[in-house]
Amino acid sequence: MSLFIRGVRTQRALMHRMYSSSKSSDPASSTEVKTIPKNLLEGSQTSHLQPENGAIFDKKPFKIHLEANKTYSWCLCGKSKSQPICDGMHKNEFLKIKLRPVRFQVEKTGDYWLCNCKQTKHRPFCDGTHKQPDIQAAVR
Ligand code: FES
Repeated sequence: MSLFIRGVRTQRALMHRMYSSSKSSDPASSTEVKTIPKNLLEGSQTSHLQPENGAIFDKKPFKIHLEANKTYSWCLCGKSKSQPICDGMHKNEFLKIKLRPVRFQVEKTGDYWLCNCKQTKHRPFCDGTHKQPDIQAAVR
């Protein structure tokens, strides 16, 4: 295998990894690596395609137990008081929020790391974007 192909494969593998299912409060400190889960509703709805990100709520993801094939709504606007799940705050007309929550389902019942910085490219799952210095500096 050429070095170029091996390098591309390694780069792709790294892009699709996330830290998950560890006992740590931040998967970035874990040595266990898993792939980013898939939202089973991605093909049937468009809320995950909204071009803008919400307000940074936290600089680390939130571990939550989810049930297979149950529909959840992940807060994208960053204003929910029930993070990381939507509580309907985006409907408050005084806040003038245009973002909608991302409805999602998971394939298997278990623990998942949901993005709480609201900047992930794999909504609603943490993809490690929160480790960027500007996000770490945004929340104290
Ligand atoms: S919390 Fe990890 S990408 Fe948002």
